[in-house]
Amino acid sequence: MTRKNIVLIGMMGSGKSTIAKALSERLRIPLYSTDDAIEHGTQRKIKDLVAAKDWEHFRYVEHRAVRQLVHDHKGGVVIDCGGGVVLNPDNLKLLRENGIIFYLSAPPFVLYQRLKGDLTRPLIQVADPQAELEKLHAERLPLYEQADHVIDASDASIEGPIAQILAKV
Ligand code: S3P
Repeated sequence: MTRKNIVLIGMMGSGKSTIAKALSERLRIPLYSTDDAIEHGTQRKIKDLVAAKDWEHFRYVEHRAVRQLVHDHKGGVVIDCGGGVVLNPDNLKLLRENGIIFYLSAPPFVLYQRLKGDLTRPLIQVADPQAELEKLHAERLPLYEQADHVIDASDASIEGPIAQILAKV
């Protein structure tokens, strides 16, 4: 078993949080999330933070959260990353220093089915959330594919992705 961190990246709705929690329980290692760190650090829900400030501020706070997590945990934890963490290349560089990066891949229509009606993610509070997910997915795919491993997370069951990740750590 590796002593590196297990880092999960991918679009919102790809199952990162559920899979991260299951991995942390099965491997009995701590779980951290960039979104939780941001909410804890700012004492605000992400949607309120974005509404009060802007995305530039959010990305700045997100980068600080990544830096802190990587500084505090040099290995042996699961890190569940917000979907936009890949937008800053420095984030991936930092996460890679002591982590194995897994991209949880799922097509936009699957993401949409899972996220329909979700009010917590500001990026999809738009007239056509499915089109927005398609756009974000297309823009980010080359960044997600910089992961060490691509894991198919389109199935409803998390067992497949978990087995694939466990086989690689
Ligand atoms: C975002 C994804 C969210 C959260 C924020 C922005 C994104 O995290 O960080 O709403 O840019 O894709 P999840 O991927 O955990 O939903």
